[in-house]
Amino acid sequence: MNRPLLNRRLAGLGTTIFAEMSELAVATGSVNLGQGFPDTDGPAEIARAAADAIMSGRGNQYPPGAGIPELRAAIAAHQRRFYDVPVDPDTEVLVTAGATEAIAASLLALVEPGDEVIAFEPYYDSYAACIAMAGGVRRPVTLRAPDFRPDLDAVRAAITSRTRLILLNSPHNPTGAVFTRAELEAIAGLACEHDLLVISDEVYEHMVFTGQHIPIGSLPGMRERTVSISSAAKTFSFTGWKIGWITASRELVAAVRAVKQFLTFVNGGPFQYAIAEALALPGDYFRSVAGGLLGRRDLMCDGLAEAGFEVYRPAGTYFITTDIRPFGEVSGPDFCRKLPYEAGVVAIPSVVFYDNTEAGQFQVRFAFCKKEEVLKEALSRLSALRPR
Ligand SMILES: Cc1ncc(COP(=O)(O)O)c(C=O)c1O
Repeated sequence: MNRPLLNRRLAGLGTTIFAEMSELAVATGSVNLGQGFPDTDGPAEIARAAADAIMSGRGNQYPPGAGIPELRAAIAAHQRRFYDVPVDPDTEVLVTAGATEAIAASLLALVEPGDEVIAFEPYYDSYAACIAMAGGVRRPVTLRAPDFRPDLDAVRAAITSRTRLILLNSPHNPTGAVFTRAELEAIAGLACEHDLLVISDEVYEHMVFTGQHIPIGSLPGMRERTVSISSAAKTFSFTGWKIGWITASRELVAAVRAVKQFLTFVNGGPFQYAIAEALALPGDYFRSVAGGLLGRRDLMCDGLAEAGFEVYRPAGTYFITTDIRPFGEVSGPDFCRKLPYEAGVVAIPSVVFYDNTEAGQFQVRFAFCKKEEVLKEALSRLSALRPR
């Protein structure tokens, strides 16, 4: 067979870095601060609710296509409780197989071949792949160190007659930037002026240390043009359950649902019952999400700086971006491939999240959603590094 097997739209897009780094971590006995998943499960009562749902026969057969009514109601209540945004649980909510499916289904629904999608790089790796699967053309706008603020002139300059939508992610993985109200208002203004849709990935909405999370869909003129995406993975530390959702206008939800129907049809029945309970947890729980991470953020930022990295302290998420030039290093991938052998720690080269590799080649990302003793062990190992 002389034709390449992988669809040419996806050629060169898949990154194997996560698998490679995880294998290196096992082979070298390294502390793995690569992939972003916690080493502690979410609340025990929520895990029990999922087990109870299975044992009592709730959700073991195909749930309704839009998600079970209890979860849709809980998602709508969450949007009102935290952002004062009214959402109709019957027509304006769709439960998806994680935020990942929400991103894929939204892009496949809303992008025609040749449409341009503006996205802020570095970006979560599924964005480039899903834009490609939709036949879209990505137009990256680079968030640059040290502050990683969105350059609004660059956004304006990236808009053409083919632009269909802006894909944004705040709090932002991997930089930890949290877009301000003024920045979001400016982006919203451009979307309204040029009649663009916005897909807003808000999976880190409850992990904000500095500033405030503002859903762009709550800003004037944005309700009918925004698909807001979130997920139970990060907020409740159940990344394996893959319960995500979108909230949007009835028309947008109908479009995205038409795609979801043919991707997974439905997902995670019993977990949907548990996440409905999770979303109704008291305010203390939601405050503890960022509160519990703050000390670990500072521990890691201070420790990484002491070890010699230039550190960009994140305002949100559970990732820290660093610069490796103080070690005389100029290639993130080379550095990350050596690090397990030299220090027994695994991190991810941020360049894999960029189209514009020049902007990201010196950056390395560490995840700090791990137990404090694990982070301390990683820092003690990293102290063996010698900055120039
Ligand atoms: C920015 C961003 N969006 C989406 C996801 C995926 O979320 P889920 O696990 O709910 O599919 C992640 C996971 O790391 C992420 O970082």
